[in-house]
Amino acid sequence: MKVVVLTGAGISAESGLATFRDADGLWEGHRPEDVATPEAFAYNRALVQRFYDERRASLRRVKPNAAHHALVELERRLGDDLLLVTQNVDDLHERAGSRRVLHMHGQLQRVRCEVCAAGHEWQDDLLHEPACPECGRPALRPDIVWFGEYPHGMDEIHEALSEVDVFAAIGTSGVVYPAAGFVDYAHASGATTVELNLVPTPRGDFHTTYAGPATEVVPRWVRDLLGD
Ligand code: APR
Repeated sequence: MKVVVLTGAGISAESGLATFRDADGLWEGHRPEDVATPEAFAYNRALVQRFYDERRASLRRVKPNAAHHALVELERRLGDDLLLVTQNVDDLHERAGSRRVLHMHGQLQRVRCEVCAAGHEWQDDLLHEPACPECGRPALRPDIVWFGEYPHGMDEIHEALSEVDVFAAIGTSGVVYPAAGFVDYAHASGATTVELNLVPTPRGDFHTTYAGPATEVVPRWVRDLLGD
């Protein structure tokens, strides 16, 4: 059984990380276009660096929850037949114990150099514009895929979706493409599709819905899927 799981901000909500599309339309007090676009970075570099510095620091205050842990068990049982794709830039899947995680929108704890393109693991702040360990230029940016930029790993994701038996979307509003279109690829491959969300999204085109908080519905879905 080949399974592709797509996770979004909702899986980390109960760990204490804010989702993107809260009732007030702001993300940690900012409009997404003011902090999550290449234009924002070009015109207000300090604001964007500070914003992601705060997001990076916030990871130290949270820990994985039961939903992340349930996906570790799924990986343990399915091995390479599971592809875990996340839109999240946090590291909670890895800290729970997942070994293979495809971060299609990048990672808070990675940066890359705008001059030499080298990528680096990164824990510190970028506001003071530290030098790139590779080329020495103060040109590091968060390794985040901003609006208008191309997500990571799309070839691998499409290949997995072309032969998937079960596709699950967990805690994502399903409005940001290309991830929002994965369910259509899965249907085209004949897969069974399932949505797990606090509040089912208006799409309505999944075969099955598990409605409820991720910490409850993800462990239940994993048990159902594995027949435990
Ligand atoms: N359990 C399950 N689902 C939850 C929970 C919870 N405890 N809390 C919230 N949700 C659901 C919401 O109902 C919503 O559908 O999580 C979803 C979060 O949606 P968004 O905030 O839009 O997050 P996401 O879908 O991950 O955003 C996609 O948009 O801004 C970009 O690049 C950013 O990766 C992000 C992308």
